[in-house]
Amino acid sequence: MSAKKIVAGNWKMNKTLNDGLSLISSVIESDLPSDVLVIFGTPYIHLNEAKKLVGNKPNIGIAAQNCHHEDKGAYTGEISIEMLKSIGIEFVIVGHSERRQYFGETDQLVGIKVKKCLDNAITPIYCCGESLEIRESGNHISFVLNQLQESLGDLSNDEIQKVVIAYEPIWAIGTGKTASPEEAQEIHAAIRNHLSSSFNPSIANNISILYGGSCNAKNANTLFTKPDVDGGLIGGASLIAEDFLKIINSY
Ligand code: 13P
Repeated sequence: MSAKKIVAGNWKMNKTLNDGLSLISSVIESDLPSDVLVIFGTPYIHLNEAKKLVGNKPNIGIAAQNCHHEDKGAYTGEISIEMLKSIGIEFVIVGHSERRQYFGETDQLVGIKVKKCLDNAITPIYCCGESLEIRESGNHISFVLNQLQESLGDLSNDEIQKVVIAYEPIWAIGTGKTASPEEAQEIHAAIRNHLSSSFNPSIANNISILYGGSCNAKNANTLFTKPDVDGGLIGGASLIAEDFLKIINSY
């Protein structure tokens, strides 16, 4: 077996409910490859309708972009895993760099959220990635492996194989400056080797490692042909049905 191919959209804070639902409709009504899992990461308030729209269609999933790490309580404005589960959500994007940067999420907190997802049979899409400063210092690999270790290091073999990893270099997010296929491959291979030695090689081979950061309809193919790039976590280009479809069909 090898890792599942996944193309996941992260809409961030974009799209009204109606615009979002028509985007999903255009994508799911198209001819989609049968071996690619397509995920729509919508704003919270769209999730219930989005889930109803896609129903149990095979290879289509809906993701929340975040969740709270506590089960319930006095956390005004927050959303719990149980709430997500109650409307059938199967995926949560956890630890996106924008959450780390603007909302102070640490590796430890992100690790707690990952565990909370797994305990509730929800697949976390765990995000990691370095800043430009770290990339330029040449320490990007050790930085990212350390993020992984801090957030995922305590998971069991059974748990880690249910995690999807998204490598998203911060300098590439929303900048139009994509990592080259070689740069992506280098770090994806390092992530897989790390998983292989921390857990075991067969588990590592089955974990999907997605690339994110200015991945678009033009460059997806060259990225996805790299052996350790199992797909993408797509921001801007996931907001346009035609572009997102091209990316889905880029393998
Ligand atoms: P862009 O594709 O807009 O660079 O965003 C990537 C991202 O952050 C996906 O989570």
